[in-house]
Amino acid sequence: MVLLIDFGTIVGYPTDVHPNFAAVDWVTGSLQAPNLHTSEKKLGQLRTVFHDQRSWETMDPETVVYRVWWWEPVPAGTEGGLFWGGTEIQPGCVGDEYFMTHGHRHAIVNRAEFYGTTVGQGMLVLRDESGRAWAEKMKPGSLHYIPGRVAHRVVNTGNIPLRFVACWPSDAGHDYEIVRERGLGARVCQRDGQAVFEMTQD
Ligand SMILES: [Fe+2]
Repeated sequence: MVLLIDFGTIVGYPTDVHPNFAAVDWVTGSLQAPNLHTSEKKLGQLRTVFHDQRSWETMDPETVVYRVWWWEPVPAGTEGGLFWGGTEIQPGCVGDEYFMTHGHRHAIVNRAEFYGTTVGQGMLVLRDESGRAWAEKMKPGSLHYIPGRVAHRVVNTGNIPLRFVACWPSDAGHDYEIVRERGLGARVCQRDGQAVFEMTQD
């Protein structure tokens, strides 16, 4: 499939080479790409993620917490390839805990990733294999290198949607179980209107 994008012209492509380009809106992180993949996560799918289960039960399970879009210029699992995508996390809280992504570590654990914030305010929560947790503040322009072997999740601490772009190896895969089983070792909660990073026992 060739997607016509108005920013460029294809020149000199051999006939057996598929054009592999897309268009990013660098202000919003929106992406125009061939065969764009999308997914969304609703509150009902994030039962174990938030610590205040009572508040979670009172909320509409159809509430969209975040959505993801990404481009796979090579098939998933290709060694040496890269994927590009973006995420939008809605503002909101479950109890005192901000809306966030489920979080994962890469299935091939040594695979790293870049996150770059385009819109909003947030925190990137990270946990290494020894259990140490820390967070990096996200704001428009912030660029975050997530090393291999480090589990990661993003929290929207602002009152508008948080958007970031990402680039990761096409064979990285996702291990969600490790976050379900061990958590991230920290939570970001609203205290007196401020986002506070708190270590936990989970
Ligand atoms: Fe990742």
